[in-house]
Amino acid sequence: MFLHGKIQPQVDYKEEIQKLKKEINAVILAHYYQDAEIQDIADFIGDSLELAKKAKATDADVIVFAGVHFMAETAKILNPTKTVLVPDMEAGCSLADSCPPNLFKSFREKNPNHIAITYINCSASVKALSDIICTSSNAEKIINQIPHEQPILFSPDRNLGKYLIKKTGREMLLWEGTCIVHEAFSEEKIIRLKLEYPNAKIIAHPECEEVILRHADFIGSTSKLLNYVKEDNAENYIVVTEPGIIHQMEKSVPNKNFIPAPPQNECACNNCPYMKLNTLEKIYLCMKNNSPQIIMDEDLRLRALKPIEKMLEMS
Ligand code: 13P
Ligand code: SF4
Repeated sequence: MFLHGKIQPQVDYKEEIQKLKKEINAVILAHYYQDAEIQDIADFIGDSLELAKKAKATDADVIVFAGVHFMAETAKILNPTKTVLVPDMEAGCSLADSCPPNLFKSFREKNPNHIAITYINCSASVKALSDIICTSSNAEKIINQIPHEQPILFSPDRNLGKYLIKKTGREMLLWEGTCIVHEAFSEEKIIRLKLEYPNAKIIAHPECEEVILRHADFIGSTSKLLNYVKEDNAENYIVVTEPGIIHQMEKSVPNKNFIPAPPQNECACNNCPYMKLNTLEKIYLCMKNNSPQIIMDEDLRLRALKPIEKMLEMS
């Protein structure tokens, strides 16, 4: 890098992050959809549920959240006295954006006898208006504990909602939100891949559309997909979720072959554009500057905490 005609030494972000981690007593949590180099410097990698649990259990003073905004918010809701740093405040989520709190409030008011089970991919304000939060790991278990006569609103992911209706046999009223990444997969290209690799198993995240899920040999959250490939005896897998997860799959079972499922267009839209906003440089900078961080109104936090605690109790 040239600055004022002189060559500036490159910052070794990995080394600097390790130094800062000790200085500020931080823990780095990363979701499976982060770039491989971020996963490799994290203290803990997990799915949404595991990251929420880890955030609750940590004794670090600072949580650096390499994921998206709703995940960092959940960490703050569970840890009001800790600093929660986010490498990029713009790292949102299309599902969370699809469900503005005012519209969600009217949805609830129009259906006063329903309880609201809400996917963790939503804002703190929507959590505060919900009865129980769930993730893709525990949603089925939670729904199965709701008495049969109790009607349910499920928000904001309609694909996960449809999948859960099928799995649990429960009718639920669904919010019409979707994940832009899991909507991007092409059924035709997945079928062509399967013809090319007839012995490959298709594994998919339940945020995918029904037309995709019907081809899957196994459906589960990111950590369930990872556990499945560790325990299963196939050699090849067509992985129908964000390809960031493949890094841990390859590390855990290096003798197996993982083929990322292609999107419909010639784009990289099976990569989550929000997750991929995080970089090592931004992680280093947020730790150095103690900013940006999640700041939350205490009344909102307490209202959002209730349905998260209910989830942790039931899962
Ligand atoms: P998991 O809970 O399976 O990690 O899913 C999080 C997510 O955002 C999937 O798109
Ligand atoms: Fe949201 Fe989809 Fe990205 Fe997950 S992959 S964070 S659901 S946009």
